Amino acid sequence: MPNSFGKNFTITTWGESHGAGVGVVIDGCPPLLPITAEEIQAELDRRRPGQSDIVTPRKEEDRVEILSGVFEGRTTGTPISLLVRNADHRSSAYSEMKDKFRPSHADFTYHSKFGHRDHQGGGRSSARETVGRVAAGAIAKKFLALATQGPANATTGGAAAAAAGGLEIRAYITRIHDIAAPADALVNFPSLAEVEATAVRCPHGETAARMIERIKAARSEGDSVGGVIQCRVRGVPAGLGEPVFDRLEADLGKAMLSLPATKGFEIGSGFAETLLKGSEHNDLFEVRHGRTRTVTNRSGGVQGGISNGEEIFFNVAFKPTATILQLQKTVDVHGQETELMGKGRHDPCVVPRAVPIVEAMTALVLVDHWMRQHAQCGTFKF
Ligand SMILES: Cc1cc2nc3c(=O)[nH]c(=O)nc-3n(C[C@H](O)[C@H](O)[C@H](O)COP(=O)(O)O)c2cc1C
Repeated sequence: MPNSFGKNFTITTWGESHGAGVGVVIDGCPPLLPITAEEIQAELDRRRPGQSDIVTPRKEEDRVEILSGVFEGRTTGTPISLLVRNADHRSSAYSEMKDKFRPSHADFTYHSKFGHRDHQGGGRSSARETVGRVAAGAIAKKFLALATQGPANATTGGAAAAAAGGLEIRAYITRIHDIAAPADALVNFPSLAEVEATAVRCPHGETAARMIERIKAARSEGDSVGGVIQCRVRGVPAGLGEPVFDRLEADLGKAMLSLPATKGFEIGSGFAETLLKGSEHNDLFEVRHGRTRTVTNRSGGVQGGISNGEEIFFNVAFKPTATILQLQKTVDVHGQETELMGKGRHDPCVVPRAVPIVEAMTALVLVDHWMRQHAQCGTFKF
């Protein structure tokens, strides 16, 4: 199922950049979950184009329509279908790209695989596809927050879950190009307000200002830059994940690398752990407030493919936007070498808008594993 994701809480996204609209069908969502269009809209507003002067100026309101699966403000347990209509597409900017492949975009590979593609606005390879993921992620986030709060649902660990009012997912930018937020400025779990305080979604104000200038400078040169998003999840109960193929970090890695423009994923101490010895790297166990906890968290909250109740954290690397407004060497569909001048309205840096998308994919992975855990291990008590 190439356009579907998840085993229990399954999403299927559909739609192209310049088609009639984009959307998602969610199957397997538990019934009776209270959800409103406004809650879904709040997440879509964080993703939508035209939200600031450092993202694409394409003007899309991205108003969500709930077509099915929600009745009187609660999910019914039947498929939820969500639609966002496309409004502001200017396909003429893409006429040259019908025959010429954009360097480092999906044009050549789609042509090689399918032999026929909707080239307008990048068609299905456009990040407009992620509208459906963010809409579904809003429902997954709501489910996780409610399912993990309160004593009735307290399982093992998720140290802060009950106290903090349920599981919480927070993504933010730690690096744009070579400008990085100082590590000691990001020790505490940032609030949503701190992340949303600037258009670049880096919760360290001074660094955020420099990042914004770097993005603007790249845009004025018709160029682009990439960056790194860090995502943290607190209040995760121990026990989510699987021991072998569907390890939690494997599913998170797949979710992140399924996003357009991603090129790297690392969880916990990641690649830096290769510089340490076991004696330096191990997360020692201790008992804290009556619970088994780890003193450090280099594992990033996952051991043996299963959450251990500590904070989950990982980094995702995004490349510089492929479409740049400069003349570049390329090849056309007839196999002739040629040149292409990038046109259209593009993100000079995709990373700020990717923040809510990373959160959405994280929620989708966790809700799926939460349901698996309860189906297998929570059904019978012998
Ligand atoms: C939020 C977001 C916005 C993006 N905007 C653009 C864009 O304006 N122009 C562009 O060429 N690519 C953009 N991309 C990336 C392309 O969709 C992506 O590079 C393309 O599908 C090829 O896939 P790949 O880079 O993963 O190989 C964006 C990606 C994200 C996550």
